[in-house]
Amino acid sequence: MKVEANSVRTRMCRLMMCACTALALGVCGAAQGQQPIAIGPYVQNVGSGNAIICWATLSGEVTIAPPAHRDTSFRDYQIHSVVLRGLKPGTTYTYSVPGDAGNTSLCSFTTCADEKHPFSFCVISDTQNRENQAHRLAIERMMADKPDMLFICGDLVADGRNIGDWEEFFRAEGDLLRGVPCYAVLGNHDRESPWYFRFFALPGNERYYSFDRGAAHFVVLDSPGRYMPEDNQSVTEADRERFERQKQQYWQEQMQWFKDDLSGHPDAKYIFVFLHYPIYCLKASRVESTNELRARFGTVFQDHRVTAVFSGHDHHYHREVAGGVHFVDGGVAGGKARPIDAPILPETVKHAAVESIARVEVGPDRAKVRVTDVAGNMVDEFELSPRPQSATRAQ
Ligand SMILES: [Fe+2]
Ligand SMILES: [Fe+2]
Repeated sequence: MKVEANSVRTRMCRLMMCACTALALGVCGAAQGQQPIAIGPYVQNVGSGNAIICWATLSGEVTIAPPAHRDTSFRDYQIHSVVLRGLKPGTTYTYSVPGDAGNTSLCSFTTCADEKHPFSFCVISDTQNRENQAHRLAIERMMADKPDMLFICGDLVADGRNIGDWEEFFRAEGDLLRGVPCYAVLGNHDRESPWYFRFFALPGNERYYSFDRGAAHFVVLDSPGRYMPEDNQSVTEADRERFERQKQQYWQEQMQWFKDDLSGHPDAKYIFVFLHYPIYCLKASRVESTNELRARFGTVFQDHRVTAVFSGHDHHYHREVAGGVHFVDGGVAGGKARPIDAPILPETVKHAAVESIARVEVGPDRAKVRVTDVAGNMVDEFELSPRPQSATRAQ
């Protein structure tokens, strides 16, 4: 959803506000007689003075027989988004959207405060399977102690091209996303889906992007990259070669953007990076491809003193430390944590064949990371120090 260029698909309300605490915002986005809200509302892209409220209404439905896979009906949605500007930093706002039949008491968000104020974020990944009980348990756990932000490190859905998968994703996430902005990361199962770009209102090009919060800098990368449309039966060998060149070019452009972005934030106290594919691997069938990916990144994480890199894809928990950088791989794939079947690496600090949620509390002096399974049992716990400022300035 390209919000900055064309802020609202249906209508936009720009609200200039200077209130103090817990203001009530009546969002003027739904007209009398409009379709009821089918998905959302959910909050996106919360900054110190701005936020975006999104929701979807059903715009069409077709029922078929026999089923395609397991789906007998396909729906299209109109996505609505309203950009709120002029908000006050560090302030909790409630909001309402006419036609919302869900839990309206959960519709509140807090704008970012300055760097002296601590904040938190949670990281999950691979929520991809429908009827994913682990995903629902993870949401319940996060609802009990809401973070300020949620990152999902890819494979949000089983097949990004299926609207039924996105409907299930929002059914599971719904209550949490009313008040917690979700920063999505592209995974291989998300398939560069148009639904990904329609549902989410993310910074930049929404594939790879960055933003600041307090003294921390956040960077999201697109590790699967471009997908060739595989439904096209008339693809020739020349088409494949041309696409491979385009894919390589896309990767090079992204890497240059990543390095420039890191160089542009020498004073960030913390830098957190999120991508789908892990940098180290304990899954035998993926060790080779992971080694290739790590070689492509080289020492960029270490050179720029990145604080921590979060990933998913392997469906188990694995943390490594290399050159002072923490690499954390985890996720909730629906009761299907994969076994660890490759040799433990010299960089490995902790590993467990469990589904996991990472919660990071970012304070002025250190960041604390607590990793639990979806039942709340402790998996891992560690601290992250602020980046050495003199070293980063020397980059
Ligand atoms: Fe996955
Ligand atoms: Fe994956």
